[in-house]
Parts: sequence; C-alpha cells; structure tokens
Amino acid sequence: MEKLMIRGGRPLRGTVQISGAKNSAVALLPASLLAESEVVLDNLPQLSDVAVYGELLQELGGTVQWDGESMRIDPSSMRSIPMPNGKVKLLRASYYLMGALLGRFGEAVIGMPGGCNFEPRPIDQHIKGFEALGAEVSNDHGSIRIKAAELRGAKIYLDVVSVGATINIMLAASRAKGATIIENAAKEPEIIDVATLLNAMGANIKGAGTETIRIEGVDQLHGCRHSIIPDRIQAGTYMIAAAATRGDVLIDNVIPKHLEAMTAKLQEMGVQVHELDEAIRIVGQPTYEAIDVKALVYPGFATDLQSPMTSLLTQADGVSILSDYVYNNRFKHVPELIRMGAKIRLEGRSAIIEGGPLNAAKVRAADLRAGAALIVAGLTAVEGVTEITGVEYIDRGYDFLVDNLRQLGADVWRERE
Ligand code: EPU
Repeated sequence: MEKLMIRGGRPLRGTVQISGAKNSAVALLPASLLAESEVVLDNLPQLSDVAVYGELLQELGGTVQWDGESMRIDPSSMRSIPMPNGKVKLLRASYYLMGALLGRFGEAVIGMPGGCNFEPRPIDQHIKGFEALGAEVSNDHGSIRIKAAELRGAKIYLDVVSVGATINIMLAASRAKGATIIENAAKEPEIIDVATLLNAMGANIKGAGTETIRIEGVDQLHGCRHSIIPDRIQAGTYMIAAAATRGDVLIDNVIPKHLEAMTAKLQEMGVQVHELDEAIRIVGQPTYEAIDVKALVYPGFATDLQSPMTSLLTQADGVSILSDYVYNNRFKHVPELIRMGAKIRLEGRSAIIEGGPLNAAKVRAADLRAGAALIVAGLTAVEGVTEITGVEYIDRGYDFLVDNLRQLGADVWRERE
C-alpha cells in the first residue's frame, strides 16, 4: 500500500491535460458488448476501473487489445457467463453488465456491485426498468439473476433521477422489440456519450441529455469507433485545486459547458474563470467570499465535486453552506478535514463551513472524492507534510495525479505505507 505525501502552500501554475471521463468509460466498455463486431474506444483514462472492465470483457469471451489510450474490443464470441463474484465486486459500474448482457443475450447473472460505498446505493430503479422490459429479476445468494424470453419496449418512469438506471435501461432497450420511453431520465453528459456510442453502433436513441429518452429497439448492433468525452469531475477538481492554492492553471481538453455550475460557483466566490473553446483558465485570488452550494443532478453542481469543494470553502472568508441533494450522507471527508484544522459542522445533508487556515495532518481517504478533498486540503495547508492513506480509492478516478500535480509545481510524492 502507498500513501500520498503533500507539502502544501505552493500555488499551482501551468497547464494540465484532462483525461477521458471515468464514468463514461465504465459504461461505454459494457455497451460495446452489445455489438456483433469490433468496437474501438479512444481517449480512455488509464484507471484501475477501466483495466478491470477490460478484464471482465475478456472473462466473458471477448478479445480486448490495448493500444495506448485506445481499446479494441471484439465482442463477437462473447457469451453471458454468470459472474457472481470476483472482479464484478471491485467496481460499482459492473451493474452495467446487467443491461448489456440482457440486451444481447436475454440473460445475466451478476454479483451485487462493489465500488465506493460511502452510503447504501440501491439499484431498485435499474431493476424496475428491466422488469418493465419484460425480464424476470431475482436475487440469487447475493447475485442478481435477470432473464427475458423476449425484451419488449415499455414506458418507464424513474422514481429517482439515476445516472446508472438511465444508462442500464438504454443498454437493454436498444435491443428490445419496439419503443421504450424513459421519463424522468438523468441528463448527465455521460448519458449522451453512451447514446452517441450506441447510435454509432446502429441503435436508435433520441432525447439523451433531456428528461425523456426514446429508444426504438433494433435487431442487431455493429462495431464502430468512438472517442470518450473529457472527465468533467477530474477537470472540476483541478479547477478547485488551482483556486484553493491561489494559482493560475489552464485546464485543457474540457467541454466548458459541462462545468457551468462549477464555473458559476467559483465566480461567485471571486475566483477568476476564463472559458476558452476546449479549456478553462483559473486565476486564483488572495481572498474569497463565502457562498452556498447545493449539489444536485446535472446540470446542477455535481455531487462528485461536493467533497473537494468543501476544502476550497475553508479558504473563503465567513461561513459557507454546502448541501448534497443527491446523496444523504456523503461527508466522509469532513472528519478528516477537521483533523487538518477545518471548522466544519454537519447538519443533516449540509456542511456548515467556517473559513480558516488548514494545517498538514495524517488523514485517510475513505472513498474516491473524499480523497480529492484531502488532496486539495493538503495542497492548501501552509506548513508541514500531509500524509494521505487510502490512495487506492483516489487512483480509481485520477490518472497521472502525481505527475500532473508536480508539473503544476506542487511538492507531492508517493511513499510506501
Ligand atoms: N438511487 C436509488 N435507486 C436506484 C439508483 C439510484 O435510490 O436504483 C439513488 C442513489 O442512492 C443516489 C441517487 O439515486 O442517492 C443518484 O444515484 P445514481 O444512480 O445517479 O448514481 P450512480 O449511477 O450509481 C453515478 C456515478 C457516481 C455519481 C452519481 C451521481 C458512475 C459509475 N458513478 O453513480 O460517481 O456520484 O452517478 O452523479 O457513473 C464517483 O465518480 O465518485 C461517483 C460516485
């Protein structure tokens, strides 16, 4: 096990390149198995979840070849093999194998997913969708068994706006007989990315990115080549880190529209944000104003940026209130930030943050975005060395992290625990 060491207090300066989006990649990889011929995915992030997904596709009988940031997937000889345990437990997004295998083979047996369990994360809306399409779903010793003699299009209203359920239903419905309409669908850019891939494979999906998605099922899907959108959460994290260290950073290879809520909130604090065509420049300022932030479904402020934003708000003058309306209790970073001198009080789904300096400390990342919060805090702490354990969580979402931060002038390194 390794730990991340940060000697903070240096403003970040320079340019950072953003990778392809993790949360798109882990949906596009299983989506590729719906095709009958080769799919090439470009701009993949170099992350453990992506590598594990490649191995899962191989276990299902696919041929997978890495070529730099691209992966060639030949799904022609795949089968729906039961996957109750093993690698499916390593990542949350293994639930997308349910929709993809159901769509192509009419059956799937997948163990309950693993991943960042900062709170119980049900998948009842995914199951409701599969059942509406005509599948029988049962719980078989901790695995979900899904089977359908024939998938039929249906009208599905999601009771909760869910990224995972929206994508999983799209995957299965793309091969169903007739039309499926998903109402109250999630609108995240990753959903549009999946629909773009599926349409390039021959699917007929309209309305992705709005709350009503219409999928006209087709008999067969074919191979294609697709480049993954940039990771808006990785980009947002570097935006926050640049502001928190009072730096000047060009965040390159982003779609600024995907970061509008982040940009608006930084500007409200007094951070200078310059939007370019495919880049955003952050110019930090000596002082910031306290603000209120509400994490909501897209296009609201992303819950995945709520944790690092907590660290930035410790640098504002006065009291900020940060509430998460996507998850009830995603605040595992808060006790660790308090160890670093932060003045934060939790009240229900809100963190009340009083601005003040942070000091270096030994802290533990309990999940991926909690880790991002601790990195921002460590970069900001003026004296001493912050030691962050739980780096394996951080590695799930931020590739080239140490290299990128060093290139921006941070004093960061990894050590054996
Ligand atoms: N929910 C239900 N029932 C369901 C599905 C979701 O009650 O069947 C609830 C969840 O408990 C949560 C809310 O609905 O309170 C939203 O969950 P959603 O299904 O949208 O989340 P997800 O698809 O499991 C993805 C990302 C998360 C990100 C959320 C919200 C992937 C692999 N994960 O999760 O990313 O926080 O959407 O935007 O795409 C991360 O990257 O750190 C991460 C956790």
